[in-house]
Parts: sequence; C-alpha cells; structure tokens
Amino acid sequence: MQKSHPVFSPLIQGYWRMAEWGMTTQQQHTFLKQHLEMGITTVDHAPVYGPDSACERMFGQVLALDSSLRDQIEIVSKCGIYRGEHPQVNHYNSGKDAILKSVDESLSRLQTDHLDVLLLHRPDLLMDADEAAEAFTQLKAAGKVKHFGVSNFTPAQFELLQSRVDEPLITNQVEINPVNLLVTEDGTLEQLQQQRVQPMAWSCLAGGRIFSDNSEQMERLRHTLNEVAAEIGATSIDQVIFAWVMRLPAKPVPILGSGNIERVRSAVGALELTLTNEQWYRIWVASKGHGVA
Ligand SMILES: NC(=O)c1ccc[n+]([C@@H]2O[C@H](COP(=O)([O-])OP(=O)(O)OC[C@H]3O[C@@H](n4cnc5c(N)ncnc54)[C@H](OP(=O)(O)O)[C@@H]3O)[C@@H](O)[C@H]2O)c1
Repeated sequence: MQKSHPVFSPLIQGYWRMAEWGMTTQQQHTFLKQHLEMGITTVDHAPVYGPDSACERMFGQVLALDSSLRDQIEIVSKCGIYRGEHPQVNHYNSGKDAILKSVDESLSRLQTDHLDVLLLHRPDLLMDADEAAEAFTQLKAAGKVKHFGVSNFTPAQFELLQSRVDEPLITNQVEINPVNLLVTEDGTLEQLQQQRVQPMAWSCLAGGRIFSDNSEQMERLRHTLNEVAAEIGATSIDQVIFAWVMRLPAKPVPILGSGNIERVRSAVGALELTLTNEQWYRIWVASKGHGVA
C-alpha cells in the first residue's frame, strides 16, 4: 500500500451495503480481517446505512466478537439525516443536540467508545455553524470523536463551517466517478486541493451501474475503460476507474462499496496503476460524448 493519510488508509472500505451482503457475523469478521491484511484499515459507516441502522449494529457485533480489532481500524461515521414517516418527510438536522444524540447512538450500536472521524452527512440548509461547532468541541473534549469533516458540501458550505470550528475539517466525502463529473466542475475539488484537504470518493463505480447500464454514455465508457485497461495492464475496468479517480490532483481516497473480497483485492491493485493525461482525458471524453476544446 502507498503512504497513508495520517487519519485514514489509502483505500477505505464502505459498509453502506453490508446488510445486503448476506453474511453471518463470523463471515463479516473474516471479511474485515481480510481487508485489514490488505492495508484497508478505515471503514465508512452512517446511521442511515441499512434498515434501522442495521449496518452500524452488525459491525458492532463483529467488534464485540473480537476485541483486538478496534485498535486496528479507523471508524468513520456520520450524522444529520433523519428518516420521516408520513406525514413527516426525510430531513436534515445538524443542531447541537441532534449531533450529540446521533453520536451517542452510533457509539452504542458500534460497541465502541469513540469514532475516529465524524462527518456531517449532507449540507443542512438550517445548519447553524456555531451550534455544530459547539457540538464538535464537546465531542472532542469527551473523547468521543477524534476528527471532524463533512460530506457532499459545496466549497461555501465547507468554508462556513470551517470558519467556526477550531480544528481543521479533515475531509469532504463526495461522489467521484467518470459518470458524474459534478465535483470536477463546481470548484469542490479545487477548494480541497487549495486547502490540502483530501476528499473521500464515494460510488467510484457509480454504484455498479457502470457494469450494467446500457445507455450510450455507459457503452462508450466501458469501451474506453477496456481499451485503457489493456494499455496499462489492469486486470479489470474497476481498477482503471479507481486509478482515474486517484489521478485527480486533490488525491481522492476511494471508498470501496463491494462486499466481494476478490473485488476489494482487485481495487488494491489500482494503487500501482497510473494513467497518462491522455488516458485520463480519453475516459473524460467517453463520459461527455465530446472532446475538449
Ligand atoms: N457520503 C455519502 O453521501 C455516500 C453516498 C453513497 C455511498 N457512500 C459510501 O461510499 C461507499 C461506496 O459506495 P458504493 O457502494 O455506491 O460504491 P460503488 O463501488 O460505486 O458500488 C458498489 C456496488 O457495485 C457493485 N460492483 C462492484 N464491482 C462490480 C463489478 N466488477 N461488476 C458488477 N458489480 C460490481 C458492488 O457489488 P458487489 O458487492 O457484488 O461487488 C456494489 O453493489 C458506501 O459503502 C458508503 O460507505 C457515501
């Protein structure tokens, strides 16, 4: 594995889909041990992953099974999204009390006494940055959270929160893949690069659609990704996509979504691959359907 970020590993294992993997606690334990052996020590969670927070709960059972694991991993979790049932709607809440309560609930489900990283999951139009900062200060002082960051924030939202929080926000977790180019175009990655904040990249494989969708864009992308795979000696197009994401100068850290350990192993191989500028842009052109000016 390449040199690590001080807080998270060069690849992160996402646990959003854990409840769909159909694994027993013992099999989940084996999966975690296997990706740890590959150097993937950081795991990504959120209270909204799985029905009734099932993913945090299941992961907590794995940690309870083997108490030696907690010191070998960094746990990222999030807060701020609330599911509503009719007549209520899904909504966001990053008020101080909501943040404190959400973290306590995550800690209880995960069967741990601290999170390594807490992210505000989505920008909340009602966020009072002073209140959120107060919650962060309190969580840090209590030893419940070591580092803080955000997810899906625009540069302005990031700047606002950072202006009130004493510590540096350590990441903005955003969607990055060759299908959705938004953060490469709206200033998000430039701002993170400027501040030397490493983004975490979610859904690098567009949630798997890149393999199955029959749209013209996906057909073009698959054709070009296969072409580049042959040129650089990649064993799969997912390796090319991870290399494409990591080639961005903000140095995004991919969050893997697969529950298939061989696909996780393949992703680790992408750390050894580098795309030329021309190969990177060939994939961009395939996504856009037109060339650069
Ligand atoms: N902050 C946020 O708002 C946010 C949003 C979404 C996700 N996330 C985080 O990012 C992580 C990754 O997101 P993601 O799960 O959408 O990642 P992804 O890598 O884009 O998609 C993973 C899906 O693709 C499938 N897949 C992978 N390789 C494949 C292949 N070669 N052929 C066919 N299907 C393949 C996987 O199935 P298999 O399991 O069968 O391999 C899995 O269902 C999540 O776990 C979560 O931690 C964060």
